[in-house]
Amino acid sequence: MNQLQKTDPEIYTIIEQEKKRQQKQINLIASENYASKAILEATGSVLTNKYAEGYPGKRYYAGCEHVDSAEQLAIERCKKLFSVHHANVQPHSGSQANMGVMFAALKPGDTILGMSLAEGGHLTHGHPINFSGVFYNNVQYKVHPETNMLDYDEIEKIALECKPKLIIAGASAYSRIIDFEKFAYIAKKVKALLLADIAHIAGLIAANMHPTPVGHADFITSTTHKTLRGPRGGLIMCRKEWAEKIDKAIMPGIQGGPFMNVIAAKAVCFKEALQPNFKEYQQQIIKNAKVMAQEFIALGYDIVTGGTDNHLFIVDLRTKNINGRLAEQILEKVGITVSRSCIPFDPQKPWITSGIRIGTPAITTRGMQEEQAKEIVRLIDEALQSHDNEKTLHSVTLKITKLAKKHPIYC
Ligand SMILES: Cc1ncc(COP(=O)(O)O)c(C=O)c1O
Repeated sequence: MNQLQKTDPEIYTIIEQEKKRQQKQINLIASENYASKAILEATGSVLTNKYAEGYPGKRYYAGCEHVDSAEQLAIERCKKLFSVHHANVQPHSGSQANMGVMFAALKPGDTILGMSLAEGGHLTHGHPINFSGVFYNNVQYKVHPETNMLDYDEIEKIALECKPKLIIAGASAYSRIIDFEKFAYIAKKVKALLLADIAHIAGLIAANMHPTPVGHADFITSTTHKTLRGPRGGLIMCRKEWAEKIDKAIMPGIQGGPFMNVIAAKAVCFKEALQPNFKEYQQQIIKNAKVMAQEFIALGYDIVTGGTDNHLFIVDLRTKNINGRLAEQILEKVGITVSRSCIPFDPQKPWITSGIRIGTPAITTRGMQEEQAKEIVRLIDEALQSHDNEKTLHSVTLKITKLAKKHPIYC
């Protein structure tokens, strides 16, 4: 019996149940992944005990020599991985990273221009119910109504009209290449700062599988737990001239003591991402996403933008007379987790939606390739088409369980 089991059998049981769920289900949530055992060990280490307000060498607490080394390693590896001048690895999450940039660069009431949540952006890019939409004057850009792709001419037009102080490039549900160079051109033209939020595509960028915003953006924010496959957390990278302001915005600006256990785990994540096999992993993520999108199309589904260049895509379910929420529920029943997702200009409410977002980082971590990716699409189709047939749903569940068993998370 381990210590957790003795101290708190309820939480122990919940964790064991969650472990089983993760092993049993096929995870197509584009923002999730399975961190390595090494990352889990660092996250669960004694570093969680340490207070270290401040930065390496300049702490407000004694006894920081070892955590200083951990943070310094994380910073150096992050800088090497993305070829940047400055990295702050303390943001507790992607949202905190975005808040840190806005706190450093803006005054309340300044105008920000970001992608609307309903068209694929993120809450922190200026949604009215988020701090970013409450404290700042938010203007939102959408996608082109016909192609559903970013429309740089339109973004330029909006920027010229609203004269934002900050433009945000980046998305949670956009399957195409983001042209950071074009965003930088627009930002320069209207004298705005540019924030590239690479939370979703950080792994692809680190592996040179998506054009980098480095050299184009003033600030780059990210999460570490999506394609990057690290612990839950955030980070900010920036130009030299912003380094001090960014560090001050994170601490003492918006955060207190950093999570040193998570920072150590971020260091491990960056080390893993610097290995040659990380590039192969990212390549396979894209191959799997492309083949799945093609298979959906072959089965008569509409894919927003007609395909994907990255790790995710959105299935428009309207031709199948099913909404996103129902699809999410049916698929969970057979052991597949997906996120329901708005399609651009969605006629349905955000709680219901007309689509589902499919992502391949997690199945690719399990070693699944094109063959398995295609099989999963066929099983999704079977479940959605026959969702009131319990016999079919049972047979799909068995196939999913078998597939998951063949590709365990931690071998
Ligand atoms: C583009 C983008 N930015 C920021 C975030 C926020 O990250 P977190 O959930 O760690 O706060 C997300 C998370 O989904 C995201 O997709």
